Amino acid sequence: MQFTVISEPATRHRSECLVLAVYASRTLSHEALAVDRASRGQLGQWLERSPLDGAASQAPVTFYGLRGVHAERVVLVGLGARNKVDAAGYVKALRKCADAMIASGAASAALYLDSVKVESRDGYWKLRQAVEIVSSQAYRFDEMKSKAERGERPKLRKVQFAASQDDVGARDAVTHGEAIAAGTAAARTLGNLPGNVCTPAYLAQHARALAKRHAKLTVKVVEEAEMKRLGMGALLCVARGSRQPPKLIVLRYAGGQAGDKPVVLVGKGVTFDTGGISIKPAASMDEMKFDMCGAASVMGAIEVAARLKLTQNVIAVVPATENLPDGNASKPGDIVTSLAGRTVEILNTDAEGRLILCDALTYAERFKPEVIIDVATLTGACVVALGAQASGMWSNDEDLARDLLAAGTYTGDRAWRMPLWPEYDEQLRSNFADVANVGGRDAGAVTAAMFLARFTREMRWAHLDIAGTAWKQGKAKGSTGRPVPLLCEFLIARAGAHG
Ligand code: BES
Ligand code: MN
Ligand code: ZN
Repeated sequence: MQFTVISEPATRHRSECLVLAVYASRTLSHEALAVDRASRGQLGQWLERSPLDGAASQAPVTFYGLRGVHAERVVLVGLGARNKVDAAGYVKALRKCADAMIASGAASAALYLDSVKVESRDGYWKLRQAVEIVSSQAYRFDEMKSKAERGERPKLRKVQFAASQDDVGARDAVTHGEAIAAGTAAARTLGNLPGNVCTPAYLAQHARALAKRHAKLTVKVVEEAEMKRLGMGALLCVARGSRQPPKLIVLRYAGGQAGDKPVVLVGKGVTFDTGGISIKPAASMDEMKFDMCGAASVMGAIEVAARLKLTQNVIAVVPATENLPDGNASKPGDIVTSLAGRTVEILNTDAEGRLILCDALTYAERFKPEVIIDVATLTGACVVALGAQASGMWSNDEDLARDLLAAGTYTGDRAWRMPLWPEYDEQLRSNFADVANVGGRDAGAVTAAMFLARFTREMRWAHLDIAGTAWKQGKAKGSTGRPVPLLCEFLIARAGAHG
């Protein structure tokens, strides 16, 4: 899809589809009024006869063959009261617009929404969101279907945004939006690919391909033999039951000065989680192919950093493995020694994410991170706590916590802070090892974070539990690409690259 900024008036524009806003009580926006005048009042008359009255919740209406404009189609979208359009309302309306544009079969479309004011958001935000939303609504994952079964691909190729020429942020907004959309789509596709395709080796191959495509992006893959030499007993014990060799993937983007401390992103890459010997029930187990969505999101985010040539150093670290039952698999009660030298009693082999993450976090300490953020589909308990609305966020650093929450609010890819109080730590006590890998049913998402906190004491660290946000269940089953938007916004804001 191609996105551009234009400044010609709607009446002279030559896309196949025009998108215009209408506010509550059928009040036409500035741009829609101009089109109404050019049509000698036809737009207003048609609107009167349509069910659309401008309320925010309504489906957009598409008119064909309006007088006075070149476009064959005009999509009118309701935004509610003129001065009360908030960020969430704008996003919802734009999703509907994008669906209407795509459904109309137009190959080109132009959005004339420049006069729309969104509460506490600027033109840069509006445009960047629009690019991300249109891209996301046009995303399809049908590469695993045979040709005959594949649905029709959206015809929409070219999308233009009307913005005033003196808006310096407009060009940046499109560039950033396109990059974030591409990173999000890449993460979605990795997530949607089945476990028999998207293996640890596949993730490593994907990382190598990224490094080839982008300047200043390099890759190193730590293989099983080196993990053994290093002493990654926690990561290795998860991989024991699998025929697929584990990989520790390290992607480095050198956008900053050589001495600049990097932002390190660590992503859980369990390409399929059966639970291991503590096996999961069969219902919905297929969804555990999404257990590498943390890995997909950090690779998506570093790809965006490289594409936007952000002036900072970023490193993505991905411990990748399957978690399967086998004669050689780890058993409940087994004790392993982590890379940090701490021993862990595996009371439940299904709490594997924290095991691979603790070794990856310890490994990442060698990069002397400015901050380190891990992203993981870590606990079902986090889904119970926060559902699909927010990712759980834990941090031992106030500034980092604030910046991550702000990035979530700004993008709508929200996170909510959870506690790391020492009292919770007692739940991880083990009679036989330094720490147990589970802390009982209560506060399950918190005790998982407490486990990781033990391995990150020397770093400014945050943990994002994306178990509820990384994919959708049911009819719309599929990866969301979250939290790529949050991570990208965090990096863009940090690099001072905002338009
Ligand atoms: N990958 C799962 C977490 C998960 C479960 C995410 C369901 C989304 C939906 C993780 O490896 C896991 O199995 N966690 C266990 C931990 C428990 C054994 C302490 C869980 O949440 O049940
Ligand atoms: Mn598990
Ligand atoms: Zn898991």
